[in-house]
Amino acid sequence: MNHLDPVRHVRGESQYIDDVPVQQGTLHAVVFESPLAHGRLRAIHVADALNAAGVIRILTAADIPGENQIGGIVPDEPLLAEGHVHFRGQPVALVLAETEHQAQAALHLIRVDIDPLPIITDPRVAAAQGELIVPPRTFRIGDSGAAWSQCAHIFEGEAETGGQEHLYIETQGAYAFPTEMGGVRIISSTQGPTAVQRHTAHVLGIGMHQIEVDVTRLGGGFGGKEDQATPWGALAALGAFVARRPVKLVLDRMADMRMTGKRHPYSSDFRIGLDANLRILAYEATFYQNAGAAADLSPAVLERTLFHATNTYFIPNVTATAYSCRTNLPPNTAFRGFGGPQGMFVVEAAIVRAAEALGVAASEIQRRNLLRENDLFPYRQPAEMCNAGLAWDTAEQVYDLPKLRAEVAAFNQQNEQCKKGLSVMPICFGISFTKTAMNQARALVHIYTDGTVGVSTGAVEMGQGVNTKIAQVAAQTLGISPNRVKVESTNTTRVANTSPSAASATADLNGKATQLACEALRERLLRHACTEYTLHYEGLDIRNEQVLSAGQPADTTWEKLVSSAYWQRVSLTENAHYATPDIHFDPVTNQGYPFAYHVYGTAYTTVTLDCLRGTYTFDAVRIVHDFGESMNPAIDQGQIEGGAVQGIGWMTMEELLYNDEGRLLSNSLNSYKIPDLYSVPQRLDVHFLETPGHPRAVLRSKAVGEPPLMYGIGAYFAVREAIRAFRPAHQPTFSAPITPEKVLLNLYPALAPTATSAVVVSNTAVA
Ligand code: MTE
Ligand code: HPA
Ligand code: MOS
Repeated sequence: MNHLDPVRHVRGESQYIDDVPVQQGTLHAVVFESPLAHGRLRAIHVADALNAAGVIRILTAADIPGENQIGGIVPDEPLLAEGHVHFRGQPVALVLAETEHQAQAALHLIRVDIDPLPIITDPRVAAAQGELIVPPRTFRIGDSGAAWSQCAHIFEGEAETGGQEHLYIETQGAYAFPTEMGGVRIISSTQGPTAVQRHTAHVLGIGMHQIEVDVTRLGGGFGGKEDQATPWGALAALGAFVARRPVKLVLDRMADMRMTGKRHPYSSDFRIGLDANLRILAYEATFYQNAGAAADLSPAVLERTLFHATNTYFIPNVTATAYSCRTNLPPNTAFRGFGGPQGMFVVEAAIVRAAEALGVAASEIQRRNLLRENDLFPYRQPAEMCNAGLAWDTAEQVYDLPKLRAEVAAFNQQNEQCKKGLSVMPICFGISFTKTAMNQARALVHIYTDGTVGVSTGAVEMGQGVNTKIAQVAAQTLGISPNRVKVESTNTTRVANTSPSAASATADLNGKATQLACEALRERLLRHACTEYTLHYEGLDIRNEQVLSAGQPADTTWEKLVSSAYWQRVSLTENAHYATPDIHFDPVTNQGYPFAYHVYGTAYTTVTLDCLRGTYTFDAVRIVHDFGESMNPAIDQGQIEGGAVQGIGWMTMEELLYNDEGRLLSNSLNSYKIPDLYSVPQRLDVHFLETPGHPRAVLRSKAVGEPPLMYGIGAYFAVREAIRAFRPAHQPTFSAPITPEKVLLNLYPALAPTATSAVVVSNTAVA
C-alpha cells in the first residue's frame, strides 16, 4: 500500500494551516519579540502601535485571564514575557490587526525598556554558575571508578555536537475561533494536540472541555512541534478569546527560526578504558546540555541521552552524568532522536579516540563490544531479541566490508589531493516514551451503514505515514479494502488526553489501539452473523469484504453484514484503549524496563574529500536496518532515507550559530544549509534485515521514525577518516558539524584564525 498523502501533496491539494479558507472577521496576529537575550523588562510602550491603521488590540502578559505559564515539565516558561526577558525572540506582546501587513507594520512602533543583564550562551559556563534546569542525573552500572585499574588502555577527551534547526516546511502556526459558551476551537500545526489544549485552557483560565484542538496534518514536525507548537496555539486562542473574533497566527520563516528552540547542542567529556583484547571495561561521560532559557522538554531529552550513552555496546562499568544547563537562548526542544544522538556521538568519539591511539580500526573495537542477547543496559533492561550482531554481520556480508575497505585504501594510495574515508555506524534505539505513563493511546472507530469506516486516534500525520499505517491496520483487521477507511483529523473532542506523536511510537500506540477497536467490532459483527445467518462462530472470518465460514464464502458480504447489524441495533462504534504492557522505570534509581523493544542497524558511509577545498561528497551510505516485519516497506524505506540524510546534515553542513549576545546568526536559508539534491549521498542503499519483528510493535512492524537519524553520525567519522588519510598524524577535535571550513582548518592548521592574515598554503602542506 502506498503512502496515502503524496499524490495530494504534489497536486497542492493537502490542507495546511495557511490553506484553511480565511473566515470573515478574522484578525491577523504577529508577535513582538524581545530584542535582548536577558534583562529586566521595565515597560512596554504600545500607544503608537495601537494608533496604527488596522490595529485592534495589543495583548501583553497583563491581558492573560488565567495563568501566564506554558512550561510542560517545569513551570518556568511564561507565554508572554513578564518582569524579565530570557532570550532574544521571546514573545513579549501580540499585535492583532485587520491584515497581517498592518500587524507587521505596527510591530515597529512598539518600544520596550529593558535593563540588560549578563548573557550566558555556553552550557559549561551555565553549569559553573549553578544555572541548572533540574538537578543532574547519573546512570550507573558496575563500578567505573574501580575498573580503571584493570584497564590496559585509558583514553579521554571532549566531544561537541551542535544544534539543529528543524526546518519543517510548514512553519509554526494556529488559527483560533471563539465558540459559543466562551470556548475556543484551535486549528493547530502541533504534534501534541492535548498539550495545546491543556496549556491554552490554563492560560485562559477555563476548563479543557472548552478548548477543541484539531490537526489535519503537519508539513513536518521532527520534534519541533511536540511542545513548541503550544505558544502559537495559545496566543491565537488568547487573541480569539479576548477579541471574540477568529485569530490567525502563522510565523514567517525567519521569525520561526529566531523564536523557536532547536536540537540541544551538547558539550561532553568522556573517559574510556579497554582491556588488552579491546573489550571496553569502563566508560564515564559527562554531558552538558544547552537547554536554553526554559525547561521545555530538556529534562526528558537529557534522560534519553543517558539511555543511549552506550549506544549498541555492552559496557560492564558505566557512570554517565548529565547536566541540563540554563542559557539565554530560545528553549531547545525535541528533535528526532531526542538526545539519543548526542549521547551516541560521544561514545563513538571515545571509541575512535581509542582506535586512533592504538592504531586499530574503530570497527574492531565496535564489533568486539556489540550487545549480545540478555546483556544489560546501564538502566538494567536486558537486550532481548537483540539484533546488534545480526545487523553487523549482515552488513559485512551484503556490502562486503573488506572489499569496500580495499577500494578506499587503493583510492587513497593513488590520489594525493582527494582522500576517501569509510566509517561503520551501528545503532540501537529504545522505543517507548521514557516516561512510562505516556505510553497509552486510544482509537475511536465508526463503521457507517454503507460499510465505510472512520478512524480517529491521537496520531498526528506529519509526513511519516502514520495515517496510512493506521488505515492498513483497520483494513487488515476488519478484512476490508483500505479504500473504505478514512483516517480522520486528530481532534481532542474525539480522542482525549493524547500523548504527543513522538518517540517513534505513534504507529505502535495508536495502531495497537486501532487494532483493538477493530478486533472488537469484527468479533461483534461475526457474532451477529452467527445469529442472522445461522453460522458457527468458530471458523468465521472476513476476507476481502467477503464473510467466510470454514474457509468457504458464506451468504453475506461485509456491506450486507454491516447493514443487517445496524437494523438489528448492533453498535457499529468502538472505542479502545492501549497501554504498552510490561514497561516500567524508576527515575530515582534510574533502573527498570523502560522500552517496549530496541531497534538495531548498521550503516557504512563512504566519503570523498577534496583536500584542496575542504569540500566533500558522500559516495554511498549502505544501511542494514531492523524493521521487524515491515508493514509498509515503501514508507519505512522513506523514513530511513530521510532520517539518515537529516542526520548527515546535522553532522556535516547544518551549522547553527548564535553570537555572544544570544543572537541567531544562521537565521535564514542563506546562512543555514540543509542537505539538498547535490549534497545527499550519491547512493543510499537500505537492506531489510530478516527478523520476526516484535510482539509489542504494531503488526510486528518496528518503529522507524527516529532510529535512522543516527546513521548520519557515521558521516562525521567518515569525513574524519578522510582527513586523517591526508594528515595521518592529526587528531581532529571531536566537534560536529564538520563543515568544509572546519575540514580545511584540520587539513591545514596554518589556516587557523590565530595565524597572521596572509596565509599561504605551502606546497609541502598540500603534499
Ligand atoms: N518524518 C517526516 N516525514 N516528518 C516528520 O516530521 N518526524 C520524526 C519521524 N519521521 C517526522 C518524520 C520524528 S521526530 C518522530 S518522533 C517520528 O517520525 C514520529 O512519528 P512516528 O512515531 O509515527 O514514527
Ligand atoms: N521521546 C520523545 N518525546 C518525548 C519523550 C521521549 O522519550 N518523552 C517525552 N516526550
Ligand atoms: Mo520525535 S523528536 O520524538 O518528535
